[in-house]
Amino acid sequence: MSARRVATAALATVLPVLLVAALAPGRAGRLADGQALTPPMGWNSWNKFGCNVSEDLVKGIADAMAASGMKDAGYQYVVIDDCWQVARDSATGRIVPDSTRFPHGMRALADYVHGRGLKFGLYTDAGRRTCEGRPGTYEHEDMDARTWAEWGVDYVKVDWCHSEGINAPAQYAKIRDALAHSGRQIVFSICEWGSNRPWEWAPETGHLWRTTGDISDRWSSMVRIVDLNQSLAPAAGPGGWNDPDMLEVGNGGMTDGEYRAHFSLWAIMAAPLIAGNDLRSMSDATREILTNREVIAVDQDSLGAQGWMVSQPRPSLQVWMKPLKDGGRAVALFNRSDAPADIAVEFTAIGLRGPQRVRDLWAHADRGMAAGRTSATVASHAVVMLRIGGAAPRR
Ligand code: GLA
Repeated sequence: MSARRVATAALATVLPVLLVAALAPGRAGRLADGQALTPPMGWNSWNKFGCNVSEDLVKGIADAMAASGMKDAGYQYVVIDDCWQVARDSATGRIVPDSTRFPHGMRALADYVHGRGLKFGLYTDAGRRTCEGRPGTYEHEDMDARTWAEWGVDYVKVDWCHSEGINAPAQYAKIRDALAHSGRQIVFSICEWGSNRPWEWAPETGHLWRTTGDISDRWSSMVRIVDLNQSLAPAAGPGGWNDPDMLEVGNGGMTDGEYRAHFSLWAIMAAPLIAGNDLRSMSDATREILTNREVIAVDQDSLGAQGWMVSQPRPSLQVWMKPLKDGGRAVALFNRSDAPADIAVEFTAIGLRGPQRVRDLWAHADRGMAAGRTSATVASHAVVMLRIGGAAPRR
């Protein structure tokens, strides 16, 4: 190899580390409470059920999460999104859950979820009202944090509707401080849709922050979000993650191949993996996607780097790469076009030299050693996901 190629390869090897170190806020500028050291995994009611939430639904989902293999694959949080709350108590100001839909209250429901070996989450809004018009947490930050802690809440998603005139970094910091004084460890999910450049301030405030508007169950929506989220990689790391929104896998608007691409790209981007489908009745194909442990291991890799696009042979053909703790690379060969295509990854472009072991994470198959490059034919609207190099597998 020429001296120039060696230098290029060496630079490509250290570049991810330099990038993460130089552009991410210093460790001192990140929440360091030991939570969310890898991207949170769980389920949230919104994408499939909207306002149609209830105690029975949440219990059924917790049962299904434990029985379907989701829990064993790493999913933990069962999160109720908007519409569980109806009012504030006129005497105390405490938030009041919908007693028709949640007849036994939130403490009993949290106990049920905990009894399945899972964790319990709720939604609120940093403004005056939630997006569905329910009471928000504005001016009730300490009271709400204490109430959630009493109920046994482990995760709170905090939205940004009806927040006119409120300063986002300051208001979310107030909620962070209220949580810190609540007496309970609670993962803090900031949801202001990327409107106030949260990647610049949220690492010191929350454990995850939405970077875009809402996902919908369509290929075009998923791809648009990927494009918005990808340049924010330097902000992500253990304890704080860019959140390109919850998963749509299994909700019916995309093909299984498209859902595999969606799941692969979320894993490459070290995104929180929050399923949004009906776990009680999912197809085998959906379950296999959501529980693919080799892809989940990429998402949950302890190095905590968010991957990025390293090359684009044509605008609709992309190579994505996420550096891994063992020195290997996760690679997604991403075909956004309407026809099958061959996509190659040059090892110099991912900072590797010499022959490397290649494994296909959807075929669950070793592809032997490759020297310098490897390629695959990728179906339309699909991803081939590989693990290249790194430590020898312990299989
Ligand atoms: C906003 C959020 C969604 C969901 C709804 C609930 O749109 O971005 O994820 O929480 O509100 O009303």
